[in-house]
Amino acid sequence: LWRFIPLFGLMMMLLAGCGDKTISTLQPRGPVARDQLFLMKLSFGIMLLVVVVVFLIYLYVLVRFRKKKGDKDIVPKQVEGSHTLEIIWTVIPIILLLVLAVPTVQYTFKVLEDHRQNKDAIHVKVTAHAFWWQFEYPELGIATAQDLVIPTGKKIAFELTSADVKHSFWVPSLGGKMDTNPGLTNVYYLQADEVDTFKGKCAELCGASHSLMDFKVKSMDPAAFDQWVAKMKTPAVVPADAKAGEQVFKDNCLSCHAVNAQGLGAGPNLNGLASRELIAGILPHNDDSLKKWITNPQSVKPGTQMPAFGPTGAKLQDQQINDVIKYLDSLQLK
Ligand code: CUA
Repeated sequence: LWRFIPLFGLMMMLLAGCGDKTISTLQPRGPVARDQLFLMKLSFGIMLLVVVVVFLIYLYVLVRFRKKKGDKDIVPKQVEGSHTLEIIWTVIPIILLLVLAVPTVQYTFKVLEDHRQNKDAIHVKVTAHAFWWQFEYPELGIATAQDLVIPTGKKIAFELTSADVKHSFWVPSLGGKMDTNPGLTNVYYLQADEVDTFKGKCAELCGASHSLMDFKVKSMDPAAFDQWVAKMKTPAVVPADAKAGEQVFKDNCLSCHAVNAQGLGAGPNLNGLASRELIAGILPHNDDSLKKWITNPQSVKPGTQMPAFGPTGAKLQDQQINDVIKYLDSLQLK
């Protein structure tokens, strides 16, 4: 038993790590996550029941049929080919599996049905790229990346696909996960109860920076969401001191990065970038992070398609990079 103490300690530590309520399946923050937690509890309950019953029988047999003093080597009663026993241990698992399967299948169809029925849902097209997320709002005429913004209390109907390899879209607090496959569109929906920022993850091993393929889901009350949409559609006014950087950006970055409301490209849309919390989905948003990302993106996200523009890429002078950063800092949502 003592050998297991470190193992128990490790398990406690792992469980203690589950306290972040912006990324916890066990603390659902929307109806989809709640339904899924119910299914998890149901399957866990069934497994627990099986374990307890099997162990009780096992303990009973250990005690009841132990070798007592004076016992000779007796061959116990042979039960091979017993139809009664075989029927019992076939029927019980079938019943348990049915108890689990019926609500699971019901739930799966409910998700698809909800997706079809909800005419007033907000549609978001998700395209996964190695190693970032593109979000389009076709009805609203906007597109963004890395920060998914949604209104609270409303169904968000997703259409998910991938631009390269298989990824998987997962927001533990709201529900998931759903694979994004190249050449195929999966549907799914999520809904958030309250205003918060949730963490999202790629949940399918997809390459060197799989574990860095994070995103955020910001839920806002519907009025704030409408304001955000309006701001996204308002073209940024470039201040005079950022004009030089704007030109450098046009010459070097615009071929991949759109900076208007709904442009798409090989890289993330950067409209309103200065109002996002993170750079490349993982670095804190400041000029140092921007510089690090522009000059040596491989040091941040190995395998990224973003080319290096610094000394290793030798494409831009230091001054030009500082100008671009000044320009990027001007991309505020107003
Ligand atoms: Cu994308 Cu893992």
